[in-house]
Amino acid sequence: MNAADRSKKQRRLRLGVGFTILTLVVSACGTGGAQDSLSPASERARNIDGLFTITLVIAAVVFVLVQGAIIYTAIKFRRKKGEEPKPVKQIHGNTKLEIAWTIAPALILAGLAVPTVQTIFENAEEPVNAVEITVTGHQWWWEYEYTDLGVVTANEMHIPVGQDIALTLTADAGDVIHSFWVPRLSGKRDVVPGHVNTLTISADEPGLFLGQCAEFCGLSHANMRLRVYAHEPAEFDAWVQSQLAAAAVPADTDDSLRAEGWELFINKGCSACHGINGTEAEGGGLNPGPNLTHFGQRDTFAGALFDSNTENLSAWLANPSEMKSMEPDLNRGMPNLGLSDEEIAALVAFLQGLE
Ligand code: CUA
Repeated sequence: MNAADRSKKQRRLRLGVGFTILTLVVSACGTGGAQDSLSPASERARNIDGLFTITLVIAAVVFVLVQGAIIYTAIKFRRKKGEEPKPVKQIHGNTKLEIAWTIAPALILAGLAVPTVQTIFENAEEPVNAVEITVTGHQWWWEYEYTDLGVVTANEMHIPVGQDIALTLTADAGDVIHSFWVPRLSGKRDVVPGHVNTLTISADEPGLFLGQCAEFCGLSHANMRLRVYAHEPAEFDAWVQSQLAAAAVPADTDDSLRAEGWELFINKGCSACHGINGTEAEGGGLNPGPNLTHFGQRDTFAGALFDSNTENLSAWLANPSEMKSMEPDLNRGMPNLGLSDEEIAALVAFLQGLE
């Protein structure tokens, strides 16, 4: 073996080892995370996880049998050291084998169809005594309307534990297809413009469950995240009450930084896109952007992408498209309003005060 061959071989070996390590590292990312379908936190998510386990076990058995046969054959019929290569015996067709490897997968798939169809029917069961929420997918954020409770919010959904949440999923005509997915709480379901889909989610335990748009929907598909906060029922009722309270908008006589921000909110045209219920910025529900009535209560903004701290909000108001890829010229996302630092400081103070 010459030096060039040796270095080529070494490079290949290094690449192989590198890929193996990378695979192990990447596969470790999945366990225990807040967006992990393998740690279900609801009955429907458990049904799906159970189906996954059955499929995985069957696939593992098939894998071991097939790979075992390949390895066994490769070793058993290997050319021995010093042995001359034998002429290869030509085989044309083997009816018995061909029938066997056609029937075996067909039987496996037919067998798998039973629990699969069963799971589909179980998960499609009508929700009982449910909280109704209409979910609208937008490029690139989520709108939630609690139809019976009169609450409208964005990206962060709050639900009571142990109760079915009946989601009605849709998108505006002219928008694109999204997919609503909170892996620990249920399966995923497409959100189609001008069409209504339904999905039931629930949570067994209080906590924060992360989700993600699961259908490619343009530039900021990866930035279209969502959060579900599950609360004990009393805590959920308190949240609903806080959402129904009047917006904390400064009075006309107020001369604070917040009051200055409120004035800018109206004069700079923010209120053309963002509604604040019960105020002159209400907009009659026609606002294309997220409703901000109780924005100060939210942990995140911009498709649940950023923590709502002063630094992020200031950077966002200075140039939204630099924080998150959007196309404001095409009515997708927030435009750059060319605000000064003083105006930004006032608007941030106003937004954070919307408790
Ligand atoms: Cu919305 Cu991807």
